[in-house]
Amino acid sequence: MRQAGRSLPEYRRVREGTTMLESCRRPELVTEITLQPVRRYGVDAAIFYSDIVVPLEAAGVGVEIVPGTGPVIAEPFRTRADLDRLPELTGDALGHVTEAVRLITAELAASHGGTPLIGFAGAPFTLASYLVEGGPSRDLLRTKALMHADPQLWHDLAARLAQVTGAFLRAQVLAGASAVQLFDSWVGSLSLADYERHVAGHSAAALRAVADLGVPRTHFGTGTGELLGAMAAVDGGVDVLGVDFRVPLDVGAARGRAGAGRPVAVQGNLDPALLSAPWEVLREEVRRVLAAGERAGAGHVFNLGHGVPPSADPDVLHRVVDEVHAWRGTA
Ligand code: CP3
Repeated sequence: MRQAGRSLPEYRRVREGTTMLESCRRPELVTEITLQPVRRYGVDAAIFYSDIVVPLEAAGVGVEIVPGTGPVIAEPFRTRADLDRLPELTGDALGHVTEAVRLITAELAASHGGTPLIGFAGAPFTLASYLVEGGPSRDLLRTKALMHADPQLWHDLAARLAQVTGAFLRAQVLAGASAVQLFDSWVGSLSLADYERHVAGHSAAALRAVADLGVPRTHFGTGTGELLGAMAAVDGGVDVLGVDFRVPLDVGAARGRAGAGRPVAVQGNLDPALLSAPWEVLREEVRRVLAAGERAGAGHVFNLGHGVPPSADPDVLHRVVDEVHAWRGTA
């Protein structure tokens, strides 16, 4: 999840003096940051250090990540003329991504027993929400207004974003990532009808960009209780359905299975807020999540239900990882 490394002192140290997006353009630094949580916690997979707006920047969009705020777009997208500022993204513009993934996977193979690397991208809806709003927004009013007032412009924008995000995913897998996750973080603000009509097809197009490469595909959003069936069904069915902390994993799995027409594995979903609870309370909750994942019956990737808070205590995260490993008996 986003900011997994942000609570680590070793992350803050190596990030000193560089902006987030600058750091993402430096393959050696990306490698170091990606490996930090693997080294410290012994987690079962690494997640590529990058951001959902990195491919937008690579395509030429003026964007910055403002600390404490999130992505901010220099000139928000509101009209058809704005589409000209979002050209097709080609592999050539992603050289730094390819190089970083190669360095990371070589290092994981050499020193970490071949721990897999998970690549990721932002889904068209979530990326569009930043472009249209100009930055983070609580209610996404402008994004939804555009979708309804000018559906053709919405579809054209989302189709371009699907190309950009698909190219970013594909570059990561071709360079060595073993799985991908599509983050539609803010899609829970939509009704099921709007999701199916205006969004699902574009997310499917983004995931289709790696369909021939044989890697598992995870689809995640927050506040998506009503959308889980539809999210599981995109592009003929995803492999793993990310479930946030609001829905028990076995319930999420049942919704995913109903949507996809076959069993889907689930990922999640410890409430990040629990990381600051007393250990006995947190441990109970970790076990409750593991039991629900087991009941879900088609595979479970343990994770938080959303991002790691920057204030999280690394020692507590370490205990959580150890607790999960003890549950499956291989600690
Ligand atoms: O944890 C990791 O390092 C994994 C890599 C990763 C990052 N961003 C790095 C990052 C991933 C998978 C993301 C995805 C991402 N980025 C999402 C989808 C996941 C989610 O949380 O729903 C979203 C919505 C973004 C956009 C974004 N980038 C936000 C909202 C922020 C937080 C801004 C803030 O300061 O509150 C970022 C910054 C960001 N991306 C950080 C990291 C490590 C923090 C940078 C820092 O402060 O050092």
